[in-house]
Amino acid sequence: MSTPALSQDELKTLVGQAALQYVVPGEVVGVGTGSTVNKFIDALASMKDQIKGAVSSSEASTQRLKALGIAVLQADEVPELSVYIDGADEIDHHGHMVKGGGAALTREKIVAAQSKRFVCIADESKWVEHLGAFPLPVEVIPMATARVIRQFAAMGGSAKVRQKDGQPLVTDNGQHIVDVIGLNITDPLAFENQVSQWPGVVTVGVFAHQKAQVCLLGTPTGVKTLVF
Ligand code: 5RP
Repeated sequence: MSTPALSQDELKTLVGQAALQYVVPGEVVGVGTGSTVNKFIDALASMKDQIKGAVSSSEASTQRLKALGIAVLQADEVPELSVYIDGADEIDHHGHMVKGGGAALTREKIVAAQSKRFVCIADESKWVEHLGAFPLPVEVIPMATARVIRQFAAMGGSAKVRQKDGQPLVTDNGQHIVDVIGLNITDPLAFENQVSQWPGVVTVGVFAHQKAQVCLLGTPTGVKTLVF
């Protein structure tokens, strides 16, 4: 009898646990946001007495870390982190990612930027040839939203303001998110540079400058380690 395939949730658990090997004892670890990272946070509880604490990329992750007794430090209390562990909505074979499905992209990019190594944890549904199928999250200052939507339309994209409970979702930074479909992101670095310069854009969800150095990819045959 063949073994039943692992569910997406089980693959997330596997990569969340596998990420523990990258946590440096005695140091502070950078922690991302999302359902895959939640598995990592749960696993990290087993190492809580071996680390100084965590820098978190969202209020949601902060709450989960604290509930498990893991100390949370402010980003500006720690000059540099050895490692940042986070998920992705898409990751390509260069380690470029689309992130922000959980609306935490700005703080995620900040913590990634202060980390020497980005370890992406993802199930294999996130692995793509080219970025762009997942609606691209962009955090914007509300007064710029209509203009940013027009700029994406001029590029061939269609952008919508993300809603929560019938209202525009408000991020941890008090801003809005637009999700853009129909884009062809052939050069992620150039795209990130371009959109980051538009007035009112806080953060674009393409992570090409803050790319992953390692991806732990959950597959039916186990966790694959990809190094970029
Ligand atoms: C949150 C993110 C997440 O890392 C991304 O959305 C993946 O989430 P999940 O692990 O739940 O699939 O960027 O802003």
